[in-house]
Amino acid sequence: MSPSEPLPAAVGEDAAPPRTAALVVPHVAPPQTPRPLRLGVLASGRGSNFEALVRSSRHGALQGEVVGLVVNTPHCKALARAGRLGIAATVMNHHHYGSREALDHALVDHFTALQVDVLVMAGWMRIVSPVLCQAYDQRLVNIHPSLLPAFRGLNAMERALAAGVCITGCTAHLVAPEVDAGPILIQAAVPAYPNDTLATLAPRIHAQEHRILPIAVAMAGQRLFARP
Ligand code: GAR
Repeated sequence: MSPSEPLPAAVGEDAAPPRTAALVVPHVAPPQTPRPLRLGVLASGRGSNFEALVRSSRHGALQGEVVGLVVNTPHCKALARAGRLGIAATVMNHHHYGSREALDHALVDHFTALQVDVLVMAGWMRIVSPVLCQAYDQRLVNIHPSLLPAFRGLNAMERALAAGVCITGCTAHLVAPEVDAGPILIQAAVPAYPNDTLATLAPRIHAQEHRILPIAVAMAGQRLFARP
């Protein structure tokens, strides 16, 4: 192409952004596990990832069953979703526990009684202590709305937009006792357009979270059974 030739529309300034989200993970189904997984879920807010897990397990894509939800915020939407979906839900308000460790001990007791194999932080907006990390070592999964290790912590999508990133996404990972840290299981990349706002970017990221989280949970389950 000579320097005077116009750039192709796809990279020219007037090019309209493609309407579908770009994605880098291959279209894979959740891996199989020797037996269905018993899944526990922690949520603090909307609960859309919780619902994605329930639906994925009920449609057979994810071999498992969500056997319990715990929320820390008494009136969150996740609780209402659990009611609609027929999943047993418990409120453990963090204000009622003297320390992070005290709440985490109560969570361990609760999910141990439910014989949970994999515990999922699906929008659990609490820092977890080593108590929970050790009890669910290699089987505590978190979902985060950025391509970690970028934009750990709160308001990740807002900060990615403010930084002017062109590509962002979401990450599902095993949990280490730091905020949004631990071995990455799977990521999905999502484009961020110059005119994006939180309102336009968030649904694109959430759609990919709902897709990768069941896969990550099955991956964690598979590793569990592969342990010596
Ligand atoms: C999700 O976007 C999840 O990635 C984020 O909270 C949202 C929960 O949505 N988690 C974090 O930011 C963890 N640091 P949901 O309640 O609709 O599933």
